[in-house]
Amino acid sequence: MNQKRDSFSDKFGVIAAAAGSAIGLGNIWRFPYVLGENGGGAFLLIYLFFIVAIGVPVMLSELLIGRRAQRSVFGAFKILAPGLKFFKVVGVMGVSAAFLILSFYAVVAGWTVEYTMLAVGNQLVDKTPVELSDMFADFSSSVWRPILYLLVFMAMTAGIVIGGVKNGIEKYTKVLMPILFVIILVLCVNALLLDGAVEGLSFLFQPDFSKINGIVVLEALGQAFFSLSIGMGIIATYGSYIQKKENLLNTAISVSVADTLIAVLAGVAIFPAVFAFGIQPDAGPGLVFVTLPNIFNQMFGGYFFAIAFFVLLLIAALTSSVSLLEVVVAYITEEIHLSRQKATLLATVMVTFLGVFCVIYPFLFDSFDYVTSNFMLPISGILISVFVGWIIGKQHTKEELEAHGGSVKIVGVLIVILKIVAPFAIALVFMKNLGLLDLFIR
Ligand code: PFF
Repeated sequence: MNQKRDSFSDKFGVIAAAAGSAIGLGNIWRFPYVLGENGGGAFLLIYLFFIVAIGVPVMLSELLIGRRAQRSVFGAFKILAPGLKFFKVVGVMGVSAAFLILSFYAVVAGWTVEYTMLAVGNQLVDKTPVELSDMFADFSSSVWRPILYLLVFMAMTAGIVIGGVKNGIEKYTKVLMPILFVIILVLCVNALLLDGAVEGLSFLFQPDFSKINGIVVLEALGQAFFSLSIGMGIIATYGSYIQKKENLLNTAISVSVADTLIAVLAGVAIFPAVFAFGIQPDAGPGLVFVTLPNIFNQMFGGYFFAIAFFVLLLIAALTSSVSLLEVVVAYITEEIHLSRQKATLLATVMVTFLGVFCVIYPFLFDSFDYVTSNFMLPISGILISVFVGWIIGKQHTKEELEAHGGSVKIVGVLIVILKIVAPFAIALVFMKNLGLLDLFIR
């Protein structure tokens, strides 16, 4: 049944696709801002610790589950542990979370399409800060334009997913991810030449341990999960397209390094400019859509940098959305047995429909965001670690990791992390999001 399963053709294809999923709006907008607010370098150290100690092991678990089962996240648990029906909940939550996240993620991604067009049409220049802010408020609270751009964005996402794994996702991410990398490097070099470079960099990297408390630590863990796209079976689904010859540990490490690097580079690209032009670094949601256009207006070559920045954001959003749509499409093709074309069409229509509701009723947008990231992802994250740590176990994990012929010496440590450390740490994040920790940690 599985001989014809579509797969990534080589190592670069695997990494481009998985890094494409991980690197998204969370890296380029959210990470620099959260880091800036939470102690700069001190937050960065804690974040890096979580990426290495928990993020990489959980990502590896997802890759392993997918590749071993040769099924997307929904079917994987049925194959690997047919007797343990309870774990099917991970598949159910993964597919539903992907569906819900995509419906609001695509709305924000639609804004990036609009802003790319505005940048190309030179309409961000010569606007006062108030005009830019009104423009964003008008646009994001209006109905038709966001819906139009949501449709455009979903059509682009579907256009990639419909091609399949090798001829769609891999083909495009292999081109888009290097472009993203080049754009961010150019933006960084430009930022480092600005007057505010030193101030911006020290804002980002100077450790300020006085800002670190329990909540900030947990914030770093939450950001690590969201940023790596783990805890919802996306990486497991991609894992099912990875051939046996690929080394899963290297894949998990490369993707995590790429994701972290882009997040840090985004901070390097943004903050020197914020300081050079005297703008508040903690501008929040408006940072990208309101504050940055002000900066581009005042900057030499601002027209081109504005285009480069919004194209960067669009690519990041697109390759992440592709992974979200793929999870739903894989579910429909494998479990309902529709062709990929029909499945892509069906999933796209359903997600877009829900996205339209998110535009019309902003409370839906907020609730989907809240429910998925605060409830569904942490619960799945715990179950995924427990599944690999306790049920797949050391022997099979070793076998899977060594399938390419190499030897993996850290399996023992990995299993301890998966059995105990990761579930416990994720449970803390989950409790924090429920407000249960606020009583104890300040
Ligand atoms: N990792 C993406 C980002 O940092 O923007 C967001 C994301 C994509 C989260 C896909 C979850 C997901 F399944």
